[in-house]
Amino acid sequence: MSRRVALITGITGQDGSYLAEFLLAKGYEIHGIVRRNSDFTSKRIDRLLTNPAVTTHYGDMVDVSSLHTLLIRTQPTEIYNLAAQSHVQVSFNVPDYSAEVNALGALRILSLVKEIGLASRFYQASTSELFGGLPGTVPQSEATTFMPRSPYAAGKLFAYWTVRNYREAYDMFAVNGILFNHESPRRGRTFVTKKISQAVARIARDEQDTLVLGNLDAERDWGYAPEYVEAMWLMMQQERPEDYVVGTGVTTTVRRFVELCFAEVNIHLDWIRDDKLEIGVDSRSGKPLVKTDPRYLRPLEVEHLQADPTKIAQEIGWRARTNVAELARIMVRYDLAYSDYGFEDAVPEDAISRWRKQP
Ligand code: NAP
Ligand code: GDD
Repeated sequence: MSRRVALITGITGQDGSYLAEFLLAKGYEIHGIVRRNSDFTSKRIDRLLTNPAVTTHYGDMVDVSSLHTLLIRTQPTEIYNLAAQSHVQVSFNVPDYSAEVNALGALRILSLVKEIGLASRFYQASTSELFGGLPGTVPQSEATTFMPRSPYAAGKLFAYWTVRNYREAYDMFAVNGILFNHESPRRGRTFVTKKISQAVARIARDEQDTLVLGNLDAERDWGYAPEYVEAMWLMMQQERPEDYVVGTGVTTTVRRFVELCFAEVNIHLDWIRDDKLEIGVDSRSGKPLVKTDPRYLRPLEVEHLQADPTKIAQEIGWRARTNVAELARIMVRYDLAYSDYGFEDAVPEDAISRWRKQP
């Protein structure tokens, strides 16, 4: 069998950890880039680190020499560029850094691959945030016009076009996966789905009183992350390099995701609007459980994302299999069973039923 060596940037993140597991099962040798932090960040991949097929290396997307060294030493057949300052709201606070990592990071790797003369295939973690705010353009496909609305998305737009330019100019196998939001129990706790599912579990356990959120009306096309890493890999196995939109095709408001999560613990909400703020109260007890706070509003918002995943379904046969209600269930059940941010596979039923409120 031919050599299968994957280099994953962002291996410690949600997608990096699922992708590493997926590629290991396919027999790949895996190299992951880990940046220096003030504490360990490898929790999502700790259980993979004893596997001799997995090696992690210190490196950073802003450090060209580390990328150069790692490309030469590992000679990857496939590169998955997942590393990013991936929080949209935070990108307004650290715009230069977000651009360094999200935009120039991709350019650095592509340029090194070309100059070293590697035959590596390259996957870029592009995003539905590219579509941003063009009114009336839903659902969004590969042909939809981009209008980024954050430093995060503007940086990702640069990377998107860099991939296309390198592909055309130098005949490289480089692809953009334009992925819509995908979530899991491993999602970072500052993203809205995990913030909600964890708060619902904590409220059910009487460890937290309220969940404080920003814009409840934003709509996202939420899928289940383990399915999306398969789409990344499939794109890299095609004969020709092409860009693909990846999503479920169904969009849901943040408010509805909150309701779905609370329903998992038999709590139903009534919404009360008070001037600009909104409160979600327990319909049985009248207790306020959800509040809005302008602190979580963004300087610019992307209001409506909904994928048109026709191309990937028709050309590659990939389809999302988990709907948003199932996703909410998976996430809440996990958070009910494990109060820590752990990465266990199985969720014991008794650990869940213990915390369900009586209907
Ligand atoms: P994530 O959980 O935030 O993971 C980001 C990863 O990038 C982490 O491993 C992080 O390391 C690493 N990283 C950040 N800055 C770095 C730097 N300067 N040098 C090296 N590594 C760095 O993100 P995710 O949800 O897995 O998403 C993966 C990629 O897909 C990202 O590029 C994201 O923008 C993109 N994307 C995600 C979604 C989604 O819904 N999840 C949708 C579309 C596109 P630490 O562990 O040290 O922080
Ligand atoms: N994070 C967060 N926290 N978002 C909130 C909150 C809150 O308290 N309240 C409401 N929201 C709204 C945001 O304003 C946004 O409209 C929506 O919830 C989703 O926010 P996030 O979960 O932070 O994700 P995102 O859509 O901004 O970005 C994610 O998906 C992109 C793909 O569309 C990230 O994973 C990006 O890296 C990715 O590119």
